[in-house]
Amino acid sequence: MKIIDPLPTPDIDAVIHSQKLIDFIQQKIITAQGTLTFAEFMQHALYAPNLGYYTAGLRKFGKGGDFVTAPEISPLFAQCLAKQCQQILSQLKSGVIVEFGAGSGKLAANLLQSLAQLACLPTQYIIIEISAELQQRQQATLQAQLPSDLYQIIQWINALPITPFNAVIIANEVLDAMPVHRFRVSEQGIEEYCVGYENEQFVWQMHAVTAFDLQTSIENLQLPIHYQSEINLFLPAWINSVANFLNQGVVLLIDYGFPQHEYYHPQRNDGTLMCHYQHYTHSNPLILIGLQDITAHVDFTAVAEAALAADLQVAGFTQQANFLLSCGLMELLSDYDAENVAEYARITQQIKTLTLPSEMGELFKVMALTRQFDIPLMGFIHDDRRRL
Ligand SMILES: C[S@@+](CC[C@H](N)C(=O)[O-])C[C@H]1O[C@@H](n2cnc3c(N)ncnc32)[C@H](O)[C@@H]1O
Repeated sequence: MKIIDPLPTPDIDAVIHSQKLIDFIQQKIITAQGTLTFAEFMQHALYAPNLGYYTAGLRKFGKGGDFVTAPEISPLFAQCLAKQCQQILSQLKSGVIVEFGAGSGKLAANLLQSLAQLACLPTQYIIIEISAELQQRQQATLQAQLPSDLYQIIQWINALPITPFNAVIIANEVLDAMPVHRFRVSEQGIEEYCVGYENEQFVWQMHAVTAFDLQTSIENLQLPIHYQSEINLFLPAWINSVANFLNQGVVLLIDYGFPQHEYYHPQRNDGTLMCHYQHYTHSNPLILIGLQDITAHVDFTAVAEAALAADLQVAGFTQQANFLLSCGLMELLSDYDAENVAEYARITQQIKTLTLPSEMGELFKVMALTRQFDIPLMGFIHDDRRRL
């Protein structure tokens, strides 16, 4: 991750594409009489049909894209997850796997291959992806990478079915891609960051918060004056819809974030909003419209509260490093030939990136939510921070 100013200049095709999205959002601002909440702006910037960052055809994942996620870094991530899925699926009758936001499709490919080797395939592998463009890309990648018997168990759907399933539900770096409201606490009360369009650019506009749920949710955080941050109000509805789908099984949420007392820590008084563009990280979401990812860290206490309200149990919470190590990460290393120095160095570097505190090991967390599933989950055997 690089933090630098100025950022690389987009090429002409990217500029033309970005302008179409700018026009689209500008029109939304006009329709909304001059201002959008930041959550609305973020929704359009990421998911406007065929134009948003996730819905248009730009390369996002991996070296040639804007950021790298754990499944892109190493197949070991999926192999560890496969061990956790094996433990769960072996307890479920006709268990399916549901993956939200499957990105490039790499996690699905490696997970299915590992589960086939473990002789523990789900009856179906369901992908729920809100980007039609990414769905098509996933279909092409998975068809090319997987043998047809594995490819055939994958199904893409646009909404969760009404009939509940026995399932393992996985969402890696999905919650951080949900729109958030941005706010600050001032002497005047709670103000919301909104977005207008002036002199051919998007600009911040501050408005007193009027929405009751936003006002009360922020008041409950009891933040000091001059504090600014973000809040995800879409989380409870999302968790609820996932819970409604689950008859028996486990939801595994993997993302960067903190429990609430760390998220809204007095020293983190500028929030967690981040933009990713060509592997550069910065904090201005009002530029590079449609060309950069916009994210906010996940408040895992809010996730746990939403889960309890939706009648799920919180069965584990740990750092990614501990989860992967508990799922046998180091044992997987023995599959590689230590005599092959180049390959061994490559795979040990991948392990470091996934587990070191200075890389993804500590910031990324794994939370398990369960229904009718009382067996201790292997990923949390050595470390469980539910009480923190
Ligand atoms: C940061 S990417 C992560 C992709 C992939 N899981 C990975 O780890 O490489 C976020 C993904 O979540 C998808 N997404 C965001 N909100 C979603 C939702 N509510 N339902 C399904 N997919 C969603 C995006 O389209 C995108 O594929």
